[in-house]
Amino acid sequence: MYNIALLPGDGIGPEILSEAVKVLQACAKKFSLAFEFSEAPVGGFAIDSCGHALPEETLELCRKSDAVILGAIGGPKWDHLPAEQRPEAAALLPLRKKLGLFANLRPVILYETLIKASPLKREIVQGTDILFVRELTGGLYFGEKKRVEIAGGEKATDTLIYTTSEIERIGRLAFESARKRKKLVHSIDKANVLESSRLWRETMNRLQKEYVDVKLIHMYVDNAAMQLINHPRQFDVIVTENMFGDILTDQASVLTGSIGMLASASIGGKVALYEPVHGSAPDIAGQNKANPLAAILSVSLMLRYSFNHAKASDTIETAVLRVLEKGYRTADIMQRECRICSTSEIGNHVVEELLA
Ligand code: IPM
Ligand code: MG
Repeated sequence: MYNIALLPGDGIGPEILSEAVKVLQACAKKFSLAFEFSEAPVGGFAIDSCGHALPEETLELCRKSDAVILGAIGGPKWDHLPAEQRPEAAALLPLRKKLGLFANLRPVILYETLIKASPLKREIVQGTDILFVRELTGGLYFGEKKRVEIAGGEKATDTLIYTTSEIERIGRLAFESARKRKKLVHSIDKANVLESSRLWRETMNRLQKEYVDVKLIHMYVDNAAMQLINHPRQFDVIVTENMFGDILTDQASVLTGSIGMLASASIGGKVALYEPVHGSAPDIAGQNKANPLAAILSVSLMLRYSFNHAKASDTIETAVLRVLEKGYRTADIMQRECRICSTSEIGNHVVEELLA
């Protein structure tokens, strides 16, 4: 029996999580697994219902669960709040930090049937299969922030900090992941300008001596942004600091057709957290229009990483592939001759394929 904390959060979070749960329940039936789901408030929804974006009970529930599934956090309704009370700063970042989730794995895989959904040319994107390993609890997101008045205005500071041990643990994970893939790691930094990047590069070079079977290539982040779009097939595992990882993974999602396809696993602590890479999409929230596949693929990652159930995970991925091959699409990946579906219809189709 697996205890799962469900944090639907804001915007399209609740509707995409419902589909992910539906798929998990079908998996439970097929593979004789048992899941117990407990829902808790987080983000803007928690601000409105409990007065705080990350209630203590929600954190406690996560800590005692076997895995956490998160929908999305934030929205225009809470944008006016002081910075430290916004859902992102008051819920998402502390959740990552307090659960010790220092690594965010974001697989960027292009399904053959979605090639035309990508705005990039077939010859460029075909065969894209990258694993991003984004550092998640350090860097600019967590360094000291300051705002002071000065003559003529204000002065704002964000601090980018990395320690050797923070770089080592994420670096190790990247090397270990590459060992199970094509044995190639691109480490992305800005070592020509940033001191933190110079430490990052030195540390990666030193670590590489423990992984002589894995090839390490350093790349500046500006060049990486260009290479990702020009020649994505050169990459296998990409490891990078928090902010670069945030930016590059949104960019990389274009290679897969839509950010609505990108799943993620945040790991490193006792309990792991699974969430789609996309945000809360307030413009389409509550309309049964959002693409639930990123959430569904996120629970597939959960079965693989947290519960070691590769077979169930593969089965979900194959079901998703079949649904796409049959031409069922949400608007973000709609193509000619395909059938437009709602969020829940896509979930139903995945369940049907899974149980077929
Ligand atoms: C992500 C998101 C978050 C981040 C936001 C919502 C704070 O963009 O998970 O990529 O920047 O980490
Ligand atoms: Mg992001």
